[in-house]
Amino acid sequence: MNKQHAIGDLSAARHALTAAERGRRNGRAGVVVWLTGLSGAGKSTIATELEWQLVTRGFSACLLDGDTIRNGLCKDLAFSAADRHENIRRIGEVAKLFADAGLICIVAFISPFRADREAARRLLPPGQFLEIFVNAPLAVCEQRDPKGLYARARQGKIPEFTGLTSPYENPDNPEMEVRTDRLVAGECVKQILLLIESKLLPIAPDSPS
Ligand code: ADX
Repeated sequence: MNKQHAIGDLSAARHALTAAERGRRNGRAGVVVWLTGLSGAGKSTIATELEWQLVTRGFSACLLDGDTIRNGLCKDLAFSAADRHENIRRIGEVAKLFADAGLICIVAFISPFRADREAARRLLPPGQFLEIFVNAPLAVCEQRDPKGLYARARQGKIPEFTGLTSPYENPDNPEMEVRTDRLVAGECVKQILLLIESKLLPIAPDSPS
């Protein structure tokens, strides 16, 4: 995983269809909607409803969710800081591919480290990465404990648990924050939908690359 290719071993394949060209065909550029927050904050609930609402409105959307991806693409990774960096690096790259293909790609990962989220943002042109802080106080997440993980972590059965024995770095300047301890999930989804619709970048069919 830490192996680097020698410079010159690889060169980027020449793609016939550029991201801009795909965007012109869709009438808009793809975008990454990145949900970050503690376990139990409500990321997956919001992400699932958001994807449904977008598709219902006629958008092409997809969802990358931590619990699912960690059973497939990232099943070789655990929860050390190094593994979380790698997890988020991969997801950032995959999300960029989907956005380049013209989709609204929703990402729902704890993604606890600011630098990793910023690196994912830098993969995309300005305006095509929307960071949403799905925020509820740790005490609320712990009380919800939908998977019983906080209880097990408190018993010492899960090492490096985010918020307890592993850090979570709040976003400094997210495009939006939703407080899931104050608003129901449906209301959070409505606010995020409005943000997405206001940020989608229209591309005229004949605009230059
Ligand atoms: S991240 O930190 O690398 O972004 P990710 O979002 O993929 O995490 O996975 C988080 C999910 O893994 C949680 O929703 C929870 O179900 C589960 N999980 C298992 N162990 C841990 C742990 N030590 N810390 C946080 N979540 C964990």
